[in-house]
Amino acid sequence: MMNKINIRAYEPSFRSQLRQICCDVADRGEPIERIFPDRDIAADLLTKYYTDYEPRSSFVAVCDGRLVGYINGCLDNRRYGLVMFWLLIPQLLVKAFKSGIFFKPQVLGMLKAVLENWPRIFTWRKGSFHSHQGHLHIGVASDFRHQDVGASLINALIEYAAQKGIVELEATVHSANKEASIFFEKQGFEIRARYPMVMVRDGQKERYQSLLYVRTISTI
Ligand SMILES: CC(C)(COP(=O)(O)OP(=O)(O)OC[C@H]1O[C@@H](n2cnc3c(N)ncnc32)[C@H](O)[C@@H]1OP(=O)(O)O)[C@@H](O)C(=O)NCCC(=O)NCCS
Repeated sequence: MMNKINIRAYEPSFRSQLRQICCDVADRGEPIERIFPDRDIAADLLTKYYTDYEPRSSFVAVCDGRLVGYINGCLDNRRYGLVMFWLLIPQLLVKAFKSGIFFKPQVLGMLKAVLENWPRIFTWRKGSFHSHQGHLHIGVASDFRHQDVGASLINALIEYAAQKGIVELEATVHSANKEASIFFEKQGFEIRARYPMVMVRDGQKERYQSLLYVRTISTI
């Protein structure tokens, strides 16, 4: 019999497991290594804002002491943009430079793709750079999917966001990630925009669409 899965508020003791699981699911539900070689740097980029600067907006799913799912929430997109741009990205660039990762061909290819995406990322951020809008990232361990863990994590964040007066929550999904699209649509999210993007996977350039899903939150 499956043991009970508990949805709980994030605590710093879950930080290291959360960073691992994020890297385990970051490439459309699969491990990140086909797109990026360094888990520590990837986890900083993908999770550090949420765990270190806004920890109250994150929730975790725990089964027998093991973290099996997480939702990293941000309830203020403007603050997120400022912290990322002025603090975390500069720190990360220094860390990445010191680690020598910029000399790896996989990383150079990825950086070129990021530069190609830059104008689109800016257009997109301009449309969602408000303090009453939030966003989220969610991940569930592959052996715990389809057991309502994702839905329970979304509900925990939405309830919290509603109490805080947030009007919209966004999530971005790679167009090939059909499972995530179906999941978000079932949770009441709708596609607001599609951005053509470029990424490098297994050394090959891939074109895809970044789908911006939005859910309106009715405030309590
Ligand atoms: C997207 C994701 C978070 C969904 O998590 P999940 O825990 O599997 O989601 P849920 O179980 O709550 O719901 C997913 C599906 O399982 C179904 N389900 C729920 N309980 C079930 C059960 N006991 N048996 C079978 N299916 C079940 C749900 O009805 C839903 O069905 P649908 O796909 O037909 O709509 C998960 O697939 C994931 O981590 N993906 C990788 C990371 C990612 O892509 N994140 C999104 C970008 S931020």
